[in-house]
Amino acid sequence: MKSSARRKIYVFDTTLRDGEQCPGASLTPDEKLEIAKQLERLNVDIIEAGFPAASAGEVEAIQKISKAVKTPVICALSRMVPKDIDLAREALKFAKKKRLHVFLATSKIHREYKLRKRKSEILKLAVQNIKYGKKFFDDVEFSPEDAARTERAFLAEVVQAGIDAGATTVNVPDTVGYSMPIEFGDLIAFLIKKSPALGKKVNLSVHCHNDLGLAVANSLAAIQNGANQVECTVNGIGERAGNASLEEIAMGIDTRRDLMNAYTNINLKEITKSSRLISHLTGLVVQPNKAIVGRNAFAHESGIHQDGLLKMRQTYEIIDPKRIGLSGSEIVMGKHSGRHAFRERLQKLGIKLDAAQLDQAFERFKELSDQKKYIFDKDLEAIAEDQISQIPETWQFEFLKIASETGSRPEAAIRLKREGKVTSAASDGDGPVDACYRAIEKITGIKARLTHYAIQSVTSGKDALGEVNIKAVIEGHEVSGRGTSTDVIEASVKAYLFALNKVYARIGKKPISPI
Ligand code: KIV
Ligand code: ZN
Repeated sequence: MKSSARRKIYVFDTTLRDGEQCPGASLTPDEKLEIAKQLERLNVDIIEAGFPAASAGEVEAIQKISKAVKTPVICALSRMVPKDIDLAREALKFAKKKRLHVFLATSKIHREYKLRKRKSEILKLAVQNIKYGKKFFDDVEFSPEDAARTERAFLAEVVQAGIDAGATTVNVPDTVGYSMPIEFGDLIAFLIKKSPALGKKVNLSVHCHNDLGLAVANSLAAIQNGANQVECTVNGIGERAGNASLEEIAMGIDTRRDLMNAYTNINLKEITKSSRLISHLTGLVVQPNKAIVGRNAFAHESGIHQDGLLKMRQTYEIIDPKRIGLSGSEIVMGKHSGRHAFRERLQKLGIKLDAAQLDQAFERFKELSDQKKYIFDKDLEAIAEDQISQIPETWQFEFLKIASETGSRPEAAIRLKREGKVTSAASDGDGPVDACYRAIEKITGIKARLTHYAIQSVTSGKDALGEVNIKAVIEGHEVSGRGTSTDVIEASVKAYLFALNKVYARIGKKPISPI
């Protein structure tokens, strides 16, 4: 319930910009669009869709998002140079509601070593470029980069100059995650004292990195001291140790509304789905003990805890898992469940598939229920996710056999199908996965360099569905792939084919004559 005294905190999501800067998290324009649509369902206020100066693909992605996503403000990041601002104009030309975000470093270390500029030059550049941006955008956000390490008097001066030049939001970044909560909260209070329009006529934002694991704590301290916008990413992904995690901030504000006296408009029920989609598309696996969205966040192992929970949930759970879109139930279906029950269960989980996706998902469910006694909600979500983010299956998996003996190299025989034609190959390798990948290379004629491989189980038990996430460089593109199966080698093959098919979809690759 919203109390009139509670302050609205604007959620500025930068998953598609700072989040994508996370090593290995690069996304295609279509993947970015899919995430942006989910962020709209999550009801974030602002989506920072990218950094147009980074590449032509980035401009394309921002334009696609601008055309399709209407409720949140769409924002593009720009350095303080007119040509970057012009690119942001181009990228945002279709947006219904748009924001330009300009940044310039202000701390002594950045001024002296990175920019080689004096304070007076920084001030001049900031004012000039904010004014230039204001010619084309009503909504301009200004970030003095590395604000947390900037001399306070100079920071206050730059901030006021930015406001006078027309900035409608001032963002205070802790770029290197150096601050402590008490100090960062105090910095926010200091800035408001110096520029009383902040947090009122001019939005006061914070942008915290997680190098000391304090990004969320610093953001909450800033809110308590008057900030009214928070910049964050789903799953906390971002440069180095990441950004403040959206779900932790939203749930912190919601769970401790007694203390925070604030609210966000985040649709909390969409948190779990958002987290999974982003993990799936970026290939960045969420650590099991991650607050709110980790696999273990609502798992209770100790007997004492389980007993308490059964008597009264709140004894050991401060958040009802249903609140963030997790279903309360566990075992849902088995081999004898029909199509109707399957569809109903998906609907209950908030998953909508079109008729063709439903057919394929149901087929996959039947296969899985032959291999596994009980199908859990998480299994269903994994199956549905495979359908939702499906890309054209240029290469389809047909068959796999592994022969291995202690002390010798394992051998894999693989069969793949492409446009009705089946091709087989065999190879040995350093391990069964390597052998499979080498056999696939023989079939497709395409070399891939694996940069990341991670395996985890979707549910518990020895017949659990295994999920493999990979990253590979294929034809010069770094792509992620994900595959699920009760057989982890098969899941590895599926993940590899998923990545390969993505490259085909992205560059329209024609077949190289298979062996
Ligand atoms: O961390 C940072 O300072 C940034 C700015 C561009 C806001 O990402
Ligand atoms: Zn950042």
